[in-house]
Amino acid sequence: MKLTSNDALNMLEEIRKEVENDHWIDHSICVGNSAGKIAESLKLDVDFAKTLGYIHDIGKKINGPKNHSVNGYY
Ligand SMILES: [Fe+2]
Repeated sequence: MKLTSNDALNMLEEIRKEVENDHWIDHSICVGNSAGKIAESLKLDVDFAKTLGYIHDIGKKINGPKNHSVNGYY
């Protein structure tokens, strides 16, 4: 199953309900939306770019910013 940008966005909004600090979620949404605009201007896959932008900091759900790139991989 392929994760779509809508799936990723819905996932972030569900996570927002669980975390104390949701600034990184707002940041991730901005990154995803910006990535989508850049992809559109370059005629690349807009949904794929938005999806990756939305989930790029997903590891912060586990332990905040500490080791979030490693946590995001898992
Ligand atoms: Fe980030």
